[in-house]
Parts: sequence; structure tokens; C-alpha cells
Amino acid sequence: MPLLSNPNRVSSRSAPTRPPVMVQLKAVSKVYSNRIPCLKHVNLTLRRGDFLFVIGPSGTGKSTLLKLLYGAEQATTGQVKVAGVDVGALRGDRLAKFRRKVGIVFQDYKLIPNRTVADNVAFVLQAQGRRQREIQRRLLPTLKMVGLDHRAEALPSQLSGGEQQRVSIARAIVSTPPLLLADEPTGNLDFENATQILRTLQNLNGYGATVIVTTHDRQLAMLSSQPVMELRQGQLQPLRGPTTHPPGYEQNLSGVANTPPSRTNSQGLSANTAKTLG
Ligand SMILES: Nc1ncnc2c1ncn2[C@@H]1O[C@H](COP(=O)(O)OP(=O)(O)OP(=O)(O)O)[C@@H](O)[C@H]1O
Ligand SMILES: [Mg+2]
Repeated sequence: MPLLSNPNRVSSRSAPTRPPVMVQLKAVSKVYSNRIPCLKHVNLTLRRGDFLFVIGPSGTGKSTLLKLLYGAEQATTGQVKVAGVDVGALRGDRLAKFRRKVGIVFQDYKLIPNRTVADNVAFVLQAQGRRQREIQRRLLPTLKMVGLDHRAEALPSQLSGGEQQRVSIARAIVSTPPLLLADEPTGNLDFENATQILRTLQNLNGYGATVIVTTHDRQLAMLSSQPVMELRQGQLQPLRGPTTHPPGYEQNLSGVANTPPSRTNSQGLSANTAKTLG
């Protein structure tokens, strides 16, 4: 009997299915009104559970790349898809609904000035229609994760720049989103806080979230064990793939890659995160 006629054997020999594509940029170019091309024909595919650092000097288009992914800017040409959704085609309510499912750390934080730290973070969960009990269950552990549980009642104006940045990170991760876009999340932090934040982002990634982190800090990115791409003259070039780093490299960032996941993050990531963004 030929091997292929036995359905059991076929299924046991079939290749493992790859995670669904979460982020796809196809031939994306972006030219702002000054007519200087910012991104040129960029292609990128990330699957569920991928982690990517995008590095590059100031003004190379890192924020622009993320803005295209959360629909704050539109590609001049090419296509931007997140979990199969054509982000560039979303407008109004559909765009707002889409964004509520993406964790975004804005480079300029975008905190609500007249709300406390706790309210700024809880606001995301309220907008998602979560129950008060769940909001309370998530809030404090998330603030603890970024080292701000003792400042829950402070207003943003009463915080340092680095503390405000950590509030914006807490707000982005509190709902354990399937996609996290972090624009210079460590730009205002000392090394110790920066590595702690990277650990937190990698914990989220450990639960299946796709994570993109931009930074101009090449050293910090290279200290981690994650893939790194560089934006240079409008093009995205791989600096380090997922498997090219030497053995033991993870230890350089004192356990960034190996921190045990926190219990807070064990909620909210569905088995098929791609569906949750649709
Ligand atoms: N709204 C805009 N209108 C016109 N030009 C813009 C706009 N936003 C960005 N640019 C230009 O696009 C280029 C890339 O900007 P972008 O903010 O993406 O860079 P970046 O890599 O994030 O820089 P940084 O590290 O300083 O945050 C810059 O030259 C910038 O001046
Ligand atoms: Mg930027």
C-alpha cells in the first residue's frame, strides 16, 4: 500500500504549521510633503510571536514605519497589512476599533494630562469594555511591572520623563495585546530601567504577542538576543536574524530573554491572535 494512502501517516508526517502572518509590508514607500522619500520599497513579514528591533539614527523613518502599522500615516505606495487587515484602508470607527487592539508606546507618550497614572492605564481597558473587576486585577501588577505602583495616584505632570515613559508602556501592555508597537520605549530610561522594560516586553512576547521595538540605541538592541533590522536610507536591512547570534548571547542582558512570565500576562492572548485583530 502506498504511504500516502494512509491518512494517519500523512498527518503525522506533515510539516508543522507556521504561525499566521501578523505584520506584512509589501513594497511600501512613504514620501512626506517635503518630497524626500522616507521609506523606499520596504518589505517585511512578521508572524505571530515574532520580536523585532528596528534601529536607525534619528530621522530615518522608525516612527513612520510604526505609524503606518497603526494607521496614523498612510503609505504613498505599497500595502500595509496587520493580521490580514489592510490598515491603510481603515478610517473612522473601524480604524479606532482596530487601534484599541494594538498596544502602542508612542515616542511622545501621549498621556492624558488631567488623569492619574492609574486612570491613564485603566482607560485602555475601559475603552475595550472590560469589567471593573478585571481592570482592577490587571492594573496594579502592570504598574508594578514598570516600577510605578507607588505613583498610581500621581498626575503625569508630577512625573519625570522616564516615569511618564513607563506609564505609556504600562498602558500599552495592560491589555496583553496581540501586537505591540513600541516607539523608542527606552529612550528616556537609564540602562537598568531600559533592560527591565525590555524584559517586560519579552515576557509579553513569550505569551505569543508580536512585538516591534524601535530604538536609536544600537547597543541596547544588540545586547538582547532578538532579531535586529536597521533602517538606512529608507530601506530595512537585516542586521541579525533570529538564529545568527552566538550561543549564550542571551545572558548578556542579564536574563532579558529568560525571565519567567508574570501571571498578569497570562490573560488575554487568544490562541489565534490574528483573529482578534480582524
Ligand atoms: N508629518 C510629517 N511631515 C513631513 N515630514 C515628516 C513628517 N513626519 C516625519 N517626517 C520626516 O520623515 C523623516 C522620518 O521621520 P521619523 O519620525 O519617522 O524618524 P525617526 O527615525 O523616528 O526619528 P527619531 O529617532 O528622531 O524619532 C524625517 O526626515 C522627518 O522629518
Ligand atoms: Mg521616532
